[in-house]
Amino acid sequence: MTYSKDKIAKRKFDVVIVGAGGSGMRASLQLARAGLNVAVLSKVFPTRSHTVAAQGGIGASLGNMNEDNWHYHFYDTVKGSDWLGDQDAIEFMCREAPKVVYDLEHMGMPFDRNPDGTIYQRPFGGHTANYGEKAVERACAAADRTGHAMLHTLYQQNVAAKTTFFVEWMALDLIRDADGDVVGVTALEMETGELYMLEAKTTMLATGGAGRIFAASTNAFINTGDGLGMAARAGLALEDMEFWQFHPTGVAGAGVLLTEGCRGEGAILRNSNGERFMERYAPAYKDLAPRDYVSRCMDQEIKEGRGCGPNKDYINLDMTHLGAETIMKRLPSVFEIGHNFANVDITKEPIPVIPTIHYQMGGIPTNINGQVVTQDANNHSVVVNGLYAVGECSCVSVHGANRLGTNSLLDLLVFGRAAGNHIVDFHSKVKTHKPLPENAADLSLERLNRLETATEGEYAQDVANDIRDAMQQHASVFRTQAMMDEGVVEIAKLRERVSQIGLKDKSKVFNTARIEALEVENLIEAAQATIVSAAARKESRGAHTVNDYGDTPEHPNGRNDQDWHKHTLWHKEGNALTYKPVQMKPLTVESIKLQTRTF
Ligand code: FUM
Repeated sequence: MTYSKDKIAKRKFDVVIVGAGGSGMRASLQLARAGLNVAVLSKVFPTRSHTVAAQGGIGASLGNMNEDNWHYHFYDTVKGSDWLGDQDAIEFMCREAPKVVYDLEHMGMPFDRNPDGTIYQRPFGGHTANYGEKAVERACAAADRTGHAMLHTLYQQNVAAKTTFFVEWMALDLIRDADGDVVGVTALEMETGELYMLEAKTTMLATGGAGRIFAASTNAFINTGDGLGMAARAGLALEDMEFWQFHPTGVAGAGVLLTEGCRGEGAILRNSNGERFMERYAPAYKDLAPRDYVSRCMDQEIKEGRGCGPNKDYINLDMTHLGAETIMKRLPSVFEIGHNFANVDITKEPIPVIPTIHYQMGGIPTNINGQVVTQDANNHSVVVNGLYAVGECSCVSVHGANRLGTNSLLDLLVFGRAAGNHIVDFHSKVKTHKPLPENAADLSLERLNRLETATEGEYAQDVANDIRDAMQQHASVFRTQAMMDEGVVEIAKLRERVSQIGLKDKSKVFNTARIEALEVENLIEAAQATIVSAAARKESRGAHTVNDYGDTPEHPNGRNDQDWHKHTLWHKEGNALTYKPVQMKPLTVESIKLQTRTF
């Protein structure tokens, strides 16, 4: 099959959203309810988007169990981010949190309830009252299926609001005109392999994270960083890609997530001596310290020979004292996961866990309206007209160097809604589409036709697996400068191999082979952005912990604010880095000044 320019079908919408997870569907709901003609593209059926896998809860200071308020949530998020988060965006998110949770409740979200009818909330890592004084229950939960419940609620509301879904469609490239404005996307109908141009006054990327650049990941196989690849190929920078979160409790050997809600409900991490070792590392926060810190402590225990099992290579998560009734009520999926993936009855024995890649803190730079931004000659942020990004593929930046648990679902709701509102306002003023440029589909045609003609060459999955292994080896929980520098070279070699991928033996090729090859072209952008940004950051901060930059009196915890308190921007063009300042000024309150993180 050869793709030709004059055979490309065109469709026209007010708004095209790429991705049907929590952020995409929260935005589309706002748009469809306002009467806009909105199309949502998804590689999978919407309710199978990766949001469905989120377990523990949505962070909001409702104060249903104990006193809480958004100022505490704001403080915890800034501290959790190791002061790399932008404080204007963090204030906005924490203030909006109760509103978006109540919105969801009114849409029919089946939250767990307290006896008085209010939403049940559980403690989570790094959530405190009174600025770090004591743990507070802030995670609004639907058992351990919060993402599942949320995604189904949003999908049902979108169906009622008449959002148009394009199911099993993969977006390929952004269409930018001569002014640099985004005027739509090219996309492939996966079943037929047909190429389309989808014209839009506004385009939104909501494609989720790129967690599949790592070999061991809690992420779904669809999380290949498609929005990141599209942005990078369109000449846009990717921000803070060196910061990747390891979730402390992935099932050892399987990678499947066991929610932090387990520890929120009272589960304890134990080493081979049965010791609750987090009491030693974090006397105040214990097992509910932020994820970057808990993951490092677990790794330390294993390195020092106190790991569990015959090879001493995992930690035990012990829930046996919670009782079967609490487990079946609050953690029913965890019970099933224990049974299916570890052959363990968690009501009777501990389950082996290991820190596992979970979340990408960086992404496509945006402002708090979800508008994608780029830097001008004076390093001021300017908007890219027509383009928005929300959810894990974006970097607003509320998570900085380390995200707090439950702030991901919150981010999806707050910024999905805010971007939706901003677009509705824009569309009330702008009535016409800008014309598509003559070369609108050239890049996608070139990519597709190269694959069509490359019968020789490597299998996409061989190259993808080697990217994953390289990233796992060179950008792990503890990094070293040498390890990252080697990773930069490895990934550059792998980029060469990506350009050699071929669709072998054409008679046996299914569209899935073409899709996988196109996904690898996105994986490589996310992987190179990550390793190059990481190797350049000569400090330890949040999830980026480098043995060479350890704790010193001058740089406590290895953090070097003088040289490195700034956001990284990676540019595909020239594989180059630039930097921009962290926004320390919140919207209405005093900023939280730089401090050393202790727990
Ligand atoms: O542990 C969890 O349930 C994951 C939540 C999150 O990543 O926010």
